[in-house]
Amino acid sequence: MSRLPAAQRHAVQFSLNGKPASGEAEPRMLLTDFLRHQIGATGTHVGCEHGVCGACTVEIDGQPARACLTLAVQIDGCTVRTVEGLAPASGRLSTLQAAFKRNHALQCGFCTAGILMSLDNFLRENIRPTEQEIRDLLTGHLCRCTGYTPIVRAAMEAAAEMAGDSAKEKSDA
Ligand code: FES
Ligand code: FES
Repeated sequence: MSRLPAAQRHAVQFSLNGKPASGEAEPRMLLTDFLRHQIGATGTHVGCEHGVCGACTVEIDGQPARACLTLAVQIDGCTVRTVEGLAPASGRLSTLQAAFKRNHALQCGFCTAGILMSLDNFLRENIRPTEQEIRDLLTGHLCRCTGYTPIVRAAMEAAAEMAGDSAKEKSDA
């Protein structure tokens, strides 16, 4: 198996929130550091750096992933979404983000980007989730200050709204 020299930097080209992006990374550089320090996408937070807290969750090729457990070079050629890509337009919030705001589902906000990314992905795949399913998903995320009750409430509200939206889109089609 060939090995990459540790100090050698490699070009990384990818799609970030629908736009082409590129940078250079040493083979050992984590995706968290790459996104935050090279690309300037600081919405992705770093907590435990061990895959436990969920703060660094992003979406890679449509799947939620811990950026702290991913090497930057692994996203070469991939499609990446971060929390900066959730809002439909500048100055607007996604349905999920708006529900978080309404329900006071964040306090310091440290965990929020990761939770939003996991929930956004989950709610796209699961139109009418149960509260237990939402709570099961949240076991992969640690929040130290808000408490989970308003987060669950926001997720359920957003799910109901999104289900209504998709039913309306179908009836309009
Ligand atoms: Fe990645 Fe905690 S920083 S899971
Ligand atoms: Fe502070 Fe979750 S809002 S850790």
